[in-house]
Amino acid sequence: MFVIFCLMIAMISSLVGIVAKVMGDVFPELKQYQSKIQEIIAEEEASFGRTLVKGIEKFKKAAQDVQGTTISGQACTEAFILWDTYGFPIDLTQLMAEERGLTVDVEGFNIAMEEARQKARSARSKVVGESIVMDADATSELHKNGVATTNDSYKFIWNQEHESVVKAIYTGSEFIEIAPDVADIGIVLESTSFYAEKGGQIYDTGSIEGSFGSFIVNNVQVYGGFVLHIGSVNGGKGLYVGDKVTCKVDYDRRSLIAPNHTCTHMLNFALREVLGDHVDQKGSIVLPEKLRFDFSHGKPVHPEDLKKIESIVNQQITDELDVYANEIYPDPVRVVSIGRKVEDLLQDPDNKEWLSISTELCGGTHISNTREAKSFALLSEEGIAKGVRRITAVTTECAFKALELASSMSAEISEASKSEGSLLEKKVAALKSKIDAAAIPAALKADLRTKISQLEVRMVFCGSLNFFCNTSDQDGIRKLKKKIAEENVQKAVKAAIDVATIAASEGKTFCITQVDVGLDTAAVREAVLKVLEQQGLPIMVFSTDETLNKAVVYAGVPNTSPKNGQVVLEWLNEVMKPLKGKGGGGKNGIAQDQGSDASCLGEAMDIAAKFASLKL
Ligand SMILES: *[C@@H]1O[C@H](CO)[C@@H](O)[C@H](O)[C@H]1NC(C)=O
Ligand SMILES: *[C@@H]1O[C@H](CO)[C@@H](O)[C@H](O)[C@H]1NC(C)=O
Ligand SMILES: *[C@@H]1O[C@H](CO)[C@@H](O)[C@H](O)[C@H]1NC(C)=O
Repeated sequence: MFVIFCLMIAMISSLVGIVAKVMGDVFPELKQYQSKIQEIIAEEEASFGRTLVKGIEKFKKAAQDVQGTTISGQACTEAFILWDTYGFPIDLTQLMAEERGLTVDVEGFNIAMEEARQKARSARSKVVGESIVMDADATSELHKNGVATTNDSYKFIWNQEHESVVKAIYTGSEFIEIAPDVADIGIVLESTSFYAEKGGQIYDTGSIEGSFGSFIVNNVQVYGGFVLHIGSVNGGKGLYVGDKVTCKVDYDRRSLIAPNHTCTHMLNFALREVLGDHVDQKGSIVLPEKLRFDFSHGKPVHPEDLKKIESIVNQQITDELDVYANEIYPDPVRVVSIGRKVEDLLQDPDNKEWLSISTELCGGTHISNTREAKSFALLSEEGIAKGVRRITAVTTECAFKALELASSMSAEISEASKSEGSLLEKKVAALKSKIDAAAIPAALKADLRTKISQLEVRMVFCGSLNFFCNTSDQDGIRKLKKKIAEENVQKAVKAAIDVATIAASEGKTFCITQVDVGLDTAAVREAVLKVLEQQGLPIMVFSTDETLNKAVVYAGVPNTSPKNGQVVLEWLNEVMKPLKGKGGGGKNGIAQDQGSDASCLGEAMDIAAKFASLKL
């Protein structure tokens, strides 16, 4: 039974073709988007399948742990969790329970489910309650009361107060005659100069003033043609329906928004120029502090293209193009064009020249010339959904700041590149996180990151070689390693032979020395072998790595001494105590160990000498 259920689910996506065939004439979109629809349904099916699998596991556990024969349905118990968290239909839980001779507490479940739904509802209405919303009932009440929709054509006029009349006062649930002195009420005027949030442009703010005092406008929304000014009365003598009022829009704030909006149009245009006509605006938001533009595009935009897009917009700003807006009837729609009059476009709609200018249907408020945007900086480009990318950009002073910041960072990188070793490493690490967080043009950010990674290549630490090198040059590294190894051997052997020669000439029976080859065990070993071979003298050679605080020790006792294998180990073990040796080993009279505390080297060498003078 259950299996059949699952199979049915997995079949729906395969039915799309049939549905498209049967109904495609009536709904041509079914044919047009058939594969897309199929894809989405298949994805949903897969996701539901995963949910089912998880739910089944959960059910099995619940069925195992059940006390008695009833699976509980109350809040936070099995059947409820299956529904609430795993989306498991209660019927399915019942069905599976039945197969095992169990029942489900459906009554308890229904109560818990209703409570959960209530909770979700009140959580939702709280969010909405932050602002006042007029639903269809409210707007139809306005119509019934003979209130006409708001004439908001004055929003396109700048820097002017606007006289109007209060037509309605709305609390969020009812219309009243006098506005109370409380936060958050809505006012409908006969006409307004306030811009209501629309088409991705944020609303205007400001005040509505009259003999009553002033009403601070925090938010402006439009519902069915009625512009609702939302805010609060500030020290009023009573604001009545019918009062004459003056709209005072905060044009300073709007003047911050407008360039960003106009730049959105230029950006849209530039994106199509550079990426192609498939670029479709998926949404945009114009805030006082930045603009965001979402568009359809299948893959990340290359930094070079970002650079081109940014420079097209900046070129239009430099070209000081006039921005035109016209209502076109009969609809009416408002056309905004940059660089050419809307009339010119309409007179000769097929002119290819228009392909090189931005034209959009738009009801927003714009600057009158592109020069007012001053500058444009494209800060980021990222994917936000399958096939949808988002660009964030700034204009005016913020764009200048972004450019300044980028060039100061570039200077910092040049400065850092003069350093070497661990200082360079430190500077690069600091710069890296600084660049990641910086609000600078995305294309420049990519350039800076390239510079940083070049520095990183330069400073990659070549393991035991104890210096920084270019890791992509494998051949070079091999040669370098070989050369360094040879040099180490020469150095160690020469130092050991010198010391041994002196020791022998002084009639000493052993020699102890330190060489400077880091943890290069091969070189240290070679030094010991050469001394045994050439001088036949017991020898112990130390070498350390100060950064790692480690020491390598090799000892050799010639086979002319009895039990040389045992003696050499005893010698080494004594010496390694202060150096915290790992436990040495060896054969044929040679033994070696590594110590993890090179700071006691002096003590170790003293012990080595004492032991040798007593026992060798
Ligand atoms: C709105 O006001 C403007 C300016 O007075 C006027 O030209 C326009 O006809 C009005 N629109 C409506 C729909 O009344
Ligand atoms: C747009 O956003 C920027 C920050 O990006 C802000 O400083 C500016 O005032 C807004 N308006 C304009 C015109 O850029
Ligand atoms: C690192 O080595 C590669 C391969 O030899 C070379 O192409 C690259 O230029 C080198 N990078 C630097 C910074 O020297």
